[in-house]
Amino acid sequence: MRVAALVLAAGRGERFGAGQSKSFVSLAGRPLVVHAIEALAACATIDAIVPVLPAAEIDRLAAWQWSAIAARKVVASVAGGAERQDSMRAGLSALPADVELVAIHDAARPLVRPGDVARVIAAAASCGAALLAVPVRDTLKRVRDGRVVETPPREGLWAAQTPQVFRAALLREALAKAQSDAFQGTDDAQLVERLGHPVEIVAGDPSNLKITWPADLAWAEACVRERREEDNR
Ligand code: CTP
Ligand code: MG
Repeated sequence: MRVAALVLAAGRGERFGAGQSKSFVSLAGRPLVVHAIEALAACATIDAIVPVLPAAEIDRLAAWQWSAIAARKVVASVAGGAERQDSMRAGLSALPADVELVAIHDAARPLVRPGDVARVIAAAASCGAALLAVPVRDTLKRVRDGRVVETPPREGLWAAQTPQVFRAALLREALAKAQSDAFQGTDDAQLVERLGHPVEIVAGDPSNLKITWPADLAWAEACVRERREEDNR
């Protein structure tokens, strides 16, 4: 089966506030987007990787010294759009027609483990749609005007991560419906859920954190150090 990955890196990173694209913020000496791409490249089931970059930075990875495996898999970058869904659509339309499964991953999740990527791809290959997620650890509150209006039971609540993986035809159908309904989802799986298609959860790892705020970077640096020490042991 032909499997392609889109690495969405075209956001503005407003909450991070680096004064530059968050995707190019350095983690242990390499941009976040490079970590994300190398992690996906290390997953044997992925054949091709398409970075989706800010239009002004479309050439920024062109001369990057990839590992041999990433150099084989990374194809030309595509310019993203104003909303994440627009970036996803731009990436999807750049994929060859023979791609059967599409993995969509946030450049802002540099610490995903190749083994978890392989497991979510395997789930999507059989079910058609799957995502990595972890059970929520905090109690969630629905709040209006500074007051709690509801405490949804935590049981059964999971926090969605990426990659989220879909049969290409299913994802195209989901995007077309979202577009015709003028619907913006907060993740990709939601678009497929709207078709009534089942979406499988694959238990991920809390270390696959999305870098959102500057403090997340310090945590990610510590995680990279810890993994290096583990590798050297
Ligand atoms: N993304 C994208 N195109 C957009 C918006 C987001 O490719 N128009 C990507 C981001 O680059 C990121 C991922 O989607 O890798 C998840 O988005 P988020 O963490 O929200 O990143 P930003 O949108 O860049 O950050 P912020 O919302 O704080 O501006
Ligand atoms: Mg955003």
